[in-house]
Amino acid sequence: MKVAILKERRAKEARVAASPDTVAKMVNLGAEVAVEKGAGLGAAITDAAFKEAGATVAKDAKTALKGADLILKVQRPEPSELTGMPSGAVLMSLLDPYRAGAELDAIAKAGLTAFSMEFMPRITRAQSMDVLSSQANLAGYKAVLDGAAEFGRAFPMMMTAAGKIPPANVLVMGAGVAGLQAIATARRLGAVVWATDVRPAAKEQVESLGGKFVAVEDEEFKQAETAGGYAKEMSDAYKKKQAELIAETIQKMDMVITTALIPGRPAPVLVSEEMVKSMKPGSVIVDLAVDNGGNCALSQAGKVVTKHGVAIVGHANVPGRLAADASMLYANNLYNFLALLFDKEAKGLSIDWEDEIVKGTLVAKDGAIVHPNLKPAEPAPKAESKTSGEEGKTDGE
Ligand code: NAI
Repeated sequence: MKVAILKERRAKEARVAASPDTVAKMVNLGAEVAVEKGAGLGAAITDAAFKEAGATVAKDAKTALKGADLILKVQRPEPSELTGMPSGAVLMSLLDPYRAGAELDAIAKAGLTAFSMEFMPRITRAQSMDVLSSQANLAGYKAVLDGAAEFGRAFPMMMTAAGKIPPANVLVMGAGVAGLQAIATARRLGAVVWATDVRPAAKEQVESLGGKFVAVEDEEFKQAETAGGYAKEMSDAYKKKQAELIAETIQKMDMVITTALIPGRPAPVLVSEEMVKSMKPGSVIVDLAVDNGGNCALSQAGKVVTKHGVAIVGHANVPGRLAADASMLYANNLYNFLALLFDKEAKGLSIDWEDEIVKGTLVAKDGAIVHPNLKPAEPAPKAESKTSGEEGKTDGE
């Protein structure tokens, strides 16, 4: 089996889909590994390090891809990258499937068997393959540091001869993987941390990290978590109550870190322009959801802007800003997935199409898009209510 690891071509992507450690493990399985020249440099991995781990360094993508059975990538290949990918090869990558549109069709038409790592089911067996968790954890940490870099004040309370500095008040919106790490990081820096979420399970997790939980805890809140562990889109009535509570809380905050996402939908807008206006001058908002439309109405993807005296940080691809660690963890996630599909006797991939992990992540096969969440909706039989169709869209699995 030949594995190809390509240099990422999309803007702002410094990560790479393999590490010397995962290369060594693949070689150990009996695979031949070709890494495109310079693929690891953004993540501080030299060609020599890949070579030492047992890979060959290919002079370009075409050479790396020649005869490849498995292609490992971080970002969805651009249409121009598909040239040279052998039809029938397996592709494991982040594919951003809900927004990929025609690019996903092109991947299918190229004859690739494509797995979207974002669709990894949240079951115990797949935890070591969960790329959303491994990357969101780092993003949550980095968001606090990015916010701190824009903040003209300190986080911890300081008693000095020259006077007392009060601790910073930080609100984390969305207490999932990224949010919980943001809470822990801000607390470590000495801030007083508040957090909000729509899933009841988040309350205990926030409190166990020393955060104070603020949320509208009504009947809808009790039902907000899907079987997959994600949030549902909330009703307009809930959003109104939530906005009132946030409007009240946000005025007291020095920093707001937003991480709220709903699979398959644009990120909910939780911080309005009015709320930004109500914040103290010099406050900071870090919008981690900016790649998905943003949780703050004023954030701009890829930019730090100042509006109404508030710095709004909208860095794109935040895990990519910690490319070395993010690559190492992502590479481990991919390796664990490929090890599941690998047959040691045959020294190649032997895919059990009925495995829950395979079914959950497979998006393209035999020239067609096959994932149920991505196929055009079939017209519902007249007798069926529309709610069943809506359910399917919110879960993202
Ligand atoms: P996510 O990235 O999809 O969303 C981030 C957070 O935003 C979530 O906590 C979500 O509830 C929240 N959110 C969505 N809409 C909101 C709104 N309108 N207002 C406030 N908050 C809103 O979620 P993530 O971080 O990927 O994980 C969600 C949960 O899944 C977490 O509790 C995590 O612990 C759990 N999980 C379970 C795993 C398993 O293997 N069992 C693996 C990884 C995570």
